[in-house]
Amino acid sequence: MITLNYSKTQGIVSPSDINALKGRAEQSLSLLRSGQGAGSDFVGWLRLPSQVSAADISALTEAAQRLCGQSDVIVAAGIGGSYLGAKAVIEALSHSFECLRPSRSRPHILFAGQNISEDYMSELMETLNGRRLSCIVISKSGTTTEPAVAFRIIKKYMERQYGRAEAAERIVAVTDRSRGALRAMADREGWQTFVIPDDVGGRFSALTPVGLLPIACAGIDIAQLLKGAADAQQALLSAPFEENIALQYAALRNCLYERSKKIEILVNFNPKLHSFAEWWKQLFGESEGKDGKGIFPASADFTTDLHSLGQYIQSGERILFETFVSVASPDSRLDIPADDADLDGLNYLAGKRIDEVNKMAALGTQMAHADGGVPVIEVGIPALTPYSIGELMYFFELSCGISGYMLGVNPFDQPGVEAYKKNMFALLGKE
Ligand code: PA5
Repeated sequence: MITLNYSKTQGIVSPSDINALKGRAEQSLSLLRSGQGAGSDFVGWLRLPSQVSAADISALTEAAQRLCGQSDVIVAAGIGGSYLGAKAVIEALSHSFECLRPSRSRPHILFAGQNISEDYMSELMETLNGRRLSCIVISKSGTTTEPAVAFRIIKKYMERQYGRAEAAERIVAVTDRSRGALRAMADREGWQTFVIPDDVGGRFSALTPVGLLPIACAGIDIAQLLKGAADAQQALLSAPFEENIALQYAALRNCLYERSKKIEILVNFNPKLHSFAEWWKQLFGESEGKDGKGIFPASADFTTDLHSLGQYIQSGERILFETFVSVASPDSRLDIPADDADLDGLNYLAGKRIDEVNKMAALGTQMAHADGGVPVIEVGIPALTPYSIGELMYFFELSCGISGYMLGVNPFDQPGVEAYKKNMFALLGKE
């Protein structure tokens, strides 16, 4: 189970300050549950984990097996919520050097359509050449420019390589049930499709086929991922404030925000969580940053970034708070060896696990930052497993919905994303 520790926020917020927000937090959760709040057409994610059926999981697993069997590389084309969840889970649960493992038997999962860089796309196409390829194209609207451009290039390449009929066997579309250009293309070409539910917005869609299909292609147990999320759903949807860490985290964030802590840094001590933080930043940034309000979500990989951002965090402007995601047990064991000469002076660490040093670095950092006026929240999981990551995703999604309502915004729209598109289309002369 996930743990929440906020003992190192004291001095900035007291238990009674947090308790004072209990009513607002509980009311926000009630609004989510009753579907009476702003944007309530998009709260399907709230009960989604427990609603995914065994048949849904089998269909996704079978599609993943088919794609894996025919591919050296599977490209997942999507952006924002149609990409970040899959990347986060795959990275968190895969070997750090997966691409170089000699025993590797699965296709590589690569991403496209998450930028419009000509270099990225050219180098991707160069890499795909000569490799057996399948593509999962993911877009709820079916019209987003970045994945549409990437997919057009990939589709043309596949049709040249395989012919239209075989290319159609190698493309799976994850999109709306009936609307959008991607749905029209899929229906015309006869591609296998998976549906993104109408009532689940992009950044809340990691546990729909949007995330689940690429994750299954990476060999990750999606049933366990969903089980973790479903157990979190059951534990957090109805528990009272005192027993509900999603309510407490949402209250804490709002309490800190009201005390001028405008930036939250999601911190990890395991680089496998780098992309998890990217997913989290989109979740909170797009949900809360509107109407001139919202905590700016940032992230840091420690100890790496202690040697860059660490200075600012310790001594810069006091507008920050941190949320550490701590993993209790690593997957592997590696001890630090003794050395007769001890010229590097490290024999005091000999025989210790690297993880012990990492844990002390984490604790030392929390103490230093809290002493320096940066409130520290800690969210703990037992290990990097599909179950724990599923739990963690649901915990953050629910906290985000609650926190957004507490802030007084609609957490389920993203009108601000349109501004750059409008300018780009006008500059490109789109009719
Ligand atoms: O959270 C969101 O709604 C967005 O980030 C979308 O996921 C993103 O813009 C991609 O949209 P689409 O899936 O329609 O291509």
